[in-house]
Amino acid sequence: MDCSMLKHDPNISQSQPVIRQLNETAINQIAAGEVVERPASAIKELVENAIDAGASRIDVEYADGGKRLIQVTDNGCGIAAEDLALAMSRHATSKIDGSDLLNIQSFGFRGEALPSLGAVGKLTSVSYTHLTLPTICSV
Ligand SMILES: Nc1ncnc2c1ncn2[C@@H]1O[C@H](COP(=O)(O)OP(=O)(O)OP(=O)(O)O)[C@@H](O)[C@H]1O
Ligand SMILES: [Mg+2]
Repeated sequence: MDCSMLKHDPNISQSQPVIRQLNETAINQIAAGEVVERPASAIKELVENAIDAGASRIDVEYADGGKRLIQVTDNGCGIAAEDLALAMSRHATSKIDGSDLLNIQSFGFRGEALPSLGAVGKLTSVSYTHLTLPTICSV
């Protein structure tokens, strides 16, 4: 196509595109879309977390194909009360320290799944460890 023709086509806008910085919410939602494409992706992420936590029992409940409710319960190591909010924030993980990205031993390592679920839906986490009482955190 001869691009010089476009300049004279009255049906094509001549305005220059505006480049703008997206806000935090939009940035987080776009990033979350990469992790949580559909309800099944949310279940996959939560089951992987349970396996990484050493769980021997994992229960999955859902309603309306996962659109209304997804609840995954496991008997793994749990998250300590003081770490629960951190676990639900972006780029926070217990699985790597960032020094050797070629030696990943777990399903998860990005520290993205829980905050992604919180960005595209309502996320409530309830957890306890052998040392801490059950704690609830919602984002
Ligand atoms: N079911 C769970 N039992 C125990 N700890 C958990 C559980 N789910 C999450 N965690 C803790 O919360 C952290 C954050 O979880 P999240 O799924 O967001 O990241 P990740 O598993 O480290 O990496 P990825 O984003 O690749 O899944 C985990 O690193 C882990 O320490
Ligand atoms: Mg994970």
